[in-house]
Amino acid sequence: MLTRKLRRRGAIAAAGLLTLGTARPGTAQDEPPLMLTPSQQEGPYYPVEIPSDHDADLTVVGDAETVAAGQPLLLHGVLLDSSGEPVEGAVVEIWQTDAVGIYLHPGDPDFEDRDTAFQGFGTSVTDADGIWAFRTILPEVYGSRPRHIHAKVKVGDETVLTTQIYFSGGDIPAEGALEATGGELDALLVAVEAVVAEDGSEVLTAEHAVVVP
Ligand SMILES: [Fe+2]
Repeated sequence: MLTRKLRRRGAIAAAGLLTLGTARPGTAQDEPPLMLTPSQQEGPYYPVEIPSDHDADLTVVGDAETVAAGQPLLLHGVLLDSSGEPVEGAVVEIWQTDAVGIYLHPGDPDFEDRDTAFQGFGTSVTDADGIWAFRTILPEVYGSRPRHIHAKVKVGDETVLTTQIYFSGGDIPAEGALEATGGELDALLVAVEAVVAEDGSEVLTAEHAVVVP
């Protein structure tokens, strides 16, 4: 069995390989500005305190040997400004439920039953090409809400976007009523694809272009 460190290195390499093909919407001087990614409610479960382990791999907490339950998901994409230029050095934050639909937040009524092997919150700093990437799990649904991941984008000390990411494609149903509608919803939906990783295991991938002012 691989050590935790090797597993993590593999995960990051996989995410890196998968981000190489990240599409950037084509832009030219005379093209209209890109549509900004719509804002969505923050909701009640943003961390009270940022956990000490808040890296981009949410499937392992600290030096734990146990990996989070759930279907691994490589969620990645590009961060652009409205002129289509990549935004470098921004912090993308995500927070989401674990494999049984519980947040890493004491306000979640089922907090005591959460998967303690799941990090619950993570950050990814965009590179020179605006690329960000997370290794996480497919979030479980809770209440009447559709499956979603919360996200914030911070540039310096400023939060420039608070939003949510929804899922489509494959066998993943969009349960419940979505907050967003029409074109706004299109800009918040990501398609999930199953790919086979180097070690033969199945990993879900989802790519999302995010546009901020
Ligand atoms: Fe939520």
